Amino acid sequence: PGAPYLRVTPSMLKRMTGRRGKDAWTALGGKVYNITPYLPFHPGGEPELLRAAGRDGTRLFAEVHPWVNWEGMLAACLVGIYVPEEDGEG
Ligand code: HEM
Repeated sequence: PGAPYLRVTPSMLKRMTGRRGKDAWTALGGKVYNITPYLPFHPGGEPELLRAAGRDGTRLFAEVHPWVNWEGMLAACLVGIYVPEEDGEG
């Protein structure tokens, strides 16, 4: 069996904006990452990176730098997998 990944739904992700004392999470290619520790290191700056916080950043990311290997860079920041809303949520 594989690793017991946390299943993150859109409504869970929506709360992780990096504001109000919460970490900033984003979804990239179906995986969810905690980008908080990476914020000060992002070459494009914190505000740019935070545009992807609390939501699926896949398209945004691909628009600015499709050549960047996010899977390698953010491996240690992996939180779980991005899944559709489950019943009783949202
Ligand atoms: C630059 C990583 C998300 C905007 C870069 C670079 C890396 C990087 C490695 C340097 C690329 C190069 O010089 O070839 C990441 C990672 C992200 C992320 C790991 C994970 C979520 C985003 C998002 C945006 C963004 C969501 C915008 C909405 C930019 C911009 C630059 C940049 C504008 C260019 C900075 C410059 O050259 O002046 N990013 N990025 N990034 N990033 Fe990101």
